Amino acid sequence: MSVNKEIKKVTTHTLQMMKESGEKISMLTAYDFSFARIVDGAGIDVILVGDSASNVMAGHETTLPITLDQMIYHAQSVIRGINRCLVVVDMPFGSYQSNSDIALASAIRIMKETGGHSVKMEGGREVADAIKRIVSAGIPVMGHLGLTPQSIYKFGTYTVRAREEAEAQKLREDAKILEEAGCFAIVLEKIPAKLAEEVSASLRIPTIGIGAGGQCDGQVLVMHDMLGINTEFKPRFLRQYLNIHELATQAVAGYIKDVKSGDFPSAAEQY
Ligand code: KIV
Repeated sequence: MSVNKEIKKVTTHTLQMMKESGEKISMLTAYDFSFARIVDGAGIDVILVGDSASNVMAGHETTLPITLDQMIYHAQSVIRGINRCLVVVDMPFGSYQSNSDIALASAIRIMKETGGHSVKMEGGREVADAIKRIVSAGIPVMGHLGLTPQSIYKFGTYTVRAREEAEAQKLREDAKILEEAGCFAIVLEKIPAKLAEEVSASLRIPTIGIGAGGQCDGQVLVMHDMLGINTEFKPRFLRQYLNIHELATQAVAGYIKDVKSGDFPSAAEQY
């Protein structure tokens, strides 16, 4: 008897079906092979190779410095670690804002050089033409509205967006524009839960929230934040599932102690 071990891969179509059936979408960031293997193996639906790599992997204050080549390197590593989940790769700052030719060329590089399944871009109406061209080249695009960290110098702070009605109305319109431009899903970052609920209900495509309440069609967190690798960042929306910083510090301190005392390596740990 042959056992069918074929893995059912998550696609953009799967996410659409999940929205329609009311099943929530789970998404986490990952930036390297080893963590991608853990996250995919645990059963995540979507891995985002986020430009938050600029913060949590490279130690930059913002997401602006990370380059297209660096994002490609991270995405290549993630792809080698996964079997099942859908992989979304962030288009970094400067790789799509200038014009739709540059945006298309950047998206094509990501798809060709990484084996990723889709790209993500921040912004609304101002990137709609670029999204249309990328989608018509056969590349799925995830949108990103609300707090868009690549625009941090325009916003000035990382506080909740779209509390005022004018900005909320622009976000409602932008969400529709992104859906019409062909996005398969939209990240809603740090906006009031009521607005996110309204936008999610008004769209056919799924929304993935981060700091946008429980009525989005899915949720995303930065892996380093939820695993407590990075302990300085403690926004209200973050649920920390582990304190790797503390556990790893204890492990390293134990190793240092054993090396200094001569306890490591023992007789059984040598040839
Ligand atoms: O880069 C990133 O990690 C993101 C998430 C915060 C959605 O864009």
